[in-house]
Amino acid sequence: MRYVSFFVEFYLIFVKNNKVMIEKQICAKILFCTFDELPDDEKKLVEYAKDAASKAYAPYSNFKVGAALYLKNGETVTGSNQENAAYPSGLCAERVAMFYANAKNPDEPVVKMAVVAMNNGGFTDKPITPCGSCRQALLECQNRYGENIKLLMYSADEIAIVESVTDLLPLSFGKDYL
Ligand code: THU
Repeated sequence: MRYVSFFVEFYLIFVKNNKVMIEKQICAKILFCTFDELPDDEKKLVEYAKDAASKAYAPYSNFKVGAALYLKNGETVTGSNQENAAYPSGLCAERVAMFYANAKNPDEPVVKMAVVAMNNGGFTDKPITPCGSCRQALLECQNRYGENIKLLMYSADEIAIVESVTDLLPLSFGKDYL
């Protein structure tokens, strides 16, 4: 592991235009490592995600994404992006995999997810991170089961890891607002 940033949350109180302002700093904990540094089960999960990416239906973007997840019972579920000529009708790999897992096994928490992406030149050279809609959907899944989902975001050079979806979505919207 080459770099670890620590999760901190702190407040700064200052006066601006005669008003007391509170600045809240929210930091995410993101760990970076190489593929070789992963434990065997996570290497396997990345390999499943790579296989899923090769099966993507992405004729419009040519950007093939694969997601693989482990359920708490040890089962593996995979998915890939599914595009459509009416662009918004398509769906990202993460949500395809996660919705499939939740539909198939509604009582089983999702505990880990690996995501990989390929463009025309092979696997991306920066870790692939879930889009905003996927972050929201993943957070719902995490909250639904009350178990953190560890995300492994792959690139050929390095893998970015977060222990919880909340690290990717500060100030998130959830059921408590309804
Ligand atoms: N895509 C994913 O499947 N996951 C991501 O994390 C980012 C984007 C898909 C959506 C679309 O099919 C293609 O990649 C280009 O945006």
